[in-house]
Amino acid sequence: MAAANEGLTIWLTGLPSAGKTTIARGLAARLRAEGRRVEVLEGEAVRAQLGRELGFSKEDRDENVRRIGVLADLLSRNGVIAIVAAVSPYNEARERVRSLHGLRFVEAHVAAPVEVCAQRDVKGLYARQRAGEVKGLTGVDDPYEAPLAPEVIVPTHAQSPEDSVDAVLVAARRAMVLARGGAAGK
Ligand SMILES: Nc1ncnc2c1ncn2[C@@H]1O[C@H](COP(=O)(O)OP(=O)(O)OP(=O)(O)O)[C@@H](O)[C@H]1O
Ligand SMILES: [Mg+2]
Repeated sequence: MAAANEGLTIWLTGLPSAGKTTIARGLAARLRAEGRRVEVLEGEAVRAQLGRELGFSKEDRDENVRRIGVLADLLSRNGVIAIVAAVSPYNEARERVRSLHGLRFVEAHVAAPVEVCAQRDVKGLYARQRAGEVKGLTGVDDPYEAPLAPEVIVPTHAQSPEDSVDAVLVAARRAMVLARGGAAGK
C-alpha cells in the first residue's frame, strides 16, 4: 500500500493547447506503472462537476482553481499523486493552492508560445475566438500570468511529449524526497 507521505500534487499550468493534458496522461501512465496511486484532475472536468455556476471572470476562474486545489490537497495528503491539468491563469490563486499544500506541491509551467498553441488549437478555441464566437480566451484576450518560480518549465514547442514528461518526473521525484524529509522533521 502506498504510504501517506508519498502523495504529491503536480500542477500543470499553461495556455490552451500548451500540452497539459498530454503531459498529465503521460505522467499518470509512468507513475501507475511504478505502482503509485494517481488521479488526474482536469480543470474543465472539475468545473463541469463542482463549478457549474462558475463563469470565466477572474473571480470565477480563481474559484475553480481553489476547488481543484482543495481536491488535490485531499488526495495528495493521503498518498495519492494528484496531477492537475488546468490553465489556472492567475499567480495569486496558484500560490494560495501551493500554500495549502506546503512541500507536497510541484508547479510545472507548460510553456509554448501562444502562436504555437493557436496553431495546434486542439479544441478549436483559438479559431472560435478569431471568428468572434468566444471572448476571454486566455493568452489572447484574457490574461495569463506565467508562474514566477515554478519547479519546472517545459517548453513543449521545443521537445517531444516524452521529454516533457521526463522533465516533470524529475521535478516530481525531487519534490517527493523534499516533502518526505520535511514531514519527517515535524
Ligand atoms: N512536448 C509536448 N508536450 C505536450 N504536448 C505536445 C508536445 N509537443 C507537441 N504536443 C502536442 O500539443 C498538443 C497539446 O494538446 P493538449 O490537449 O495536451 O493541451 P492542453 O494544454 O491540455 O490544452 P487545453 O487547455 O485546451 O485543455 C497535443 O496535440 C500534443 O501532441
Ligand atoms: Mg487539456
